[in-house]
Order: sequence, then structure tokens, then C-alpha cells
Amino acid sequence: MSSKIMIEAKNITKHFERKIALSSLSFSINQGELVALIGPSGAGKTTLLNTIAGLVEIEKGELFIDGSPLSSFKKGKKFAKKIGVIRQQFDLIGPLAVIHNVLAGKLSEWTVMKSLWSLLVPQEKATAVAALKRVGLEDKVYEITKNLSGGEQQRVAVARLMVQNPEIILADEPVASLDPARADDLLATLTKIVAEEKQTLIASLHTVEYARKYFTRIIALKNGEIFFDLPTDKVTDDLLVELYQLKEQV
Ligand SMILES: Nc1ncnc2c1ncn2[C@@H]1O[C@H](COP(=O)(O)OP(=O)(O)OP(=O)(O)O)[C@@H](O)[C@H]1O
Ligand SMILES: [Mg+2]
Repeated sequence: MSSKIMIEAKNITKHFERKIALSSLSFSINQGELVALIGPSGAGKTTLLNTIAGLVEIEKGELFIDGSPLSSFKKGKKFAKKIGVIRQQFDLIGPLAVIHNVLAGKLSEWTVMKSLWSLLVPQEKATAVAALKRVGLEDKVYEITKNLSGGEQQRVAVARLMVQNPEIILADEPVASLDPARADDLLATLTKIVAEEKQTLIASLHTVEYARKYFTRIIALKNGEIFFDLPTDKVTDDLLVELYQLKEQV
């Protein structure tokens, strides 16, 4: 594994009104790492992912992406090649054919004319078809996206991300709306592709079992702080009970 640091956070802090969401977090993540972000509801997982994606501004601390301050990236092509996001609600355009949603991964690179033209005649079709093949949807290229099942739509979102081809992928509860078999399948596909492409993945998950199965490192947040940050094989059941327990029980 490369030792290049892709994400470095130094004492990052964020409040919402008076409530602390991120409390002086520090960590660094190397290229190629598969990091699962776990922790109880309200722990700060979404806030942390949104912060790295540049959607939430931090109050204190520093955040470096591939060696440069996050604030130095202008939104647009360069940032889209650095960071891609996949969400629970997929963010797909339902009435469009699958291929158009997949090609949306190219929009930050394309001119407006090319993007509009692509709605009539899909541009770079081969790239989209290749991505759909990798997620097992080669027979759905021209289907209307909203007619696909939730699991298939999430695969379309993964194919779109492959076409965008960012170095870092941030996924906020990517499998929360899928049944266990499809969730497992999706994570298997996503982590396989990410590993093949030497991308870096941070995914928040509520199912610890998936974190253990598919990720190399687990960062646990609790009350906006890092509760533990360990290689997956060092995460014990006792630590997990402590992470999720409500009060003094168990
Ligand atoms: N836009 C917001 N305005 C006010 N408070 C917010 C906002 N976003 C998050 N918070 C608060 O910040 C804290 C962290 O929230 P966050 O959504 O990051 O948690 P989470 O770990 O993603 O939880 P979940 O597992 O439920 O998705 C919570 O106390 C939440 O109520
Ligand atoms: Mg969340």
C-alpha cells in the first residue's frame, strides 16, 4: 500500500449552534485505505463526511486533501477528480435513462454543449457501458432509472462514480436503504472496485458486521470525538458494546 497521505485532519472542530458535532478531531488517511466510519446516531459521521466534501465549513483546525488545504480547491473539475460522494438517497434523476445518470459523472469535465448534446446522443457511451458492466447492469443501459430497484439504482450511482473516477470516495450510509443481501453485495462490489482503482474510501455504516467484513480500518465516533481508530482486526466486541451502549447497561 502506498504511504501517500490523502486526507489529513488536524484538530477540526464544528458546532451547530451550541451543540458540538466535531470536537477537535485529528487523523490521517493514506491512499488505498478502506475506512469505515461507525458510531451512534448523532456522533458526527455525516458532519465529518460533509466537511471533507467541502459542504460544511469547519470553525477550527485544518484539513488537507492530497497535501493541499481543502480551501484551496475550487469546486469544479479538479475537485471532482479528487473527491466523489455517494449517498443513501442516490441523487439520480429518475425519469432519465440509466446511461445518462452514469454519464453525469462526466459533467464536471464536459462543456455545457457537450452535456446537453449527450442527452440526445450519449457521449463517451463506451465508458458508461464499461462501468455498468462492472456493477452488473450491462443489460439496463437504456432503462428508465426510476424503474430500477433500490439496489440497482445504488449500483447506477456506483457506476456514475466510476465514470467520475475520483481519488477519494466518501459514502454516507451507502447501503442503509437496501436489504441485507443487496447491501452486502453492493459493499462487496464497491470495495472491490475501489481497491482495483487504488482509490481511498470512507464510508459511514450502521452495520458493524459490514465494517468488519469489507474495511481495513474502523474509525468510531462518539459525541463528536474519536472513540477509537483501529485496524479492523483490533476492534473487539467489548469496544463496540461500549461505543453503542446507552448508559450503564450491558
Ligand atoms: N444542519 C444541522 N443543524 C443543526 N444541528 C446539526 C446539523 N447537522 C447535524 N447537526 C447535529 O450535529 C450532531 C452530529 O450530527 P451528524 O448528522 O453528523 O450525526 P451522524 O453520526 O451522521 O448521525 P446518524 O447516524 O443519525 O446519521 C448531531 O447532534 C446533530 O443533531
Ligand atoms: Mg448521518
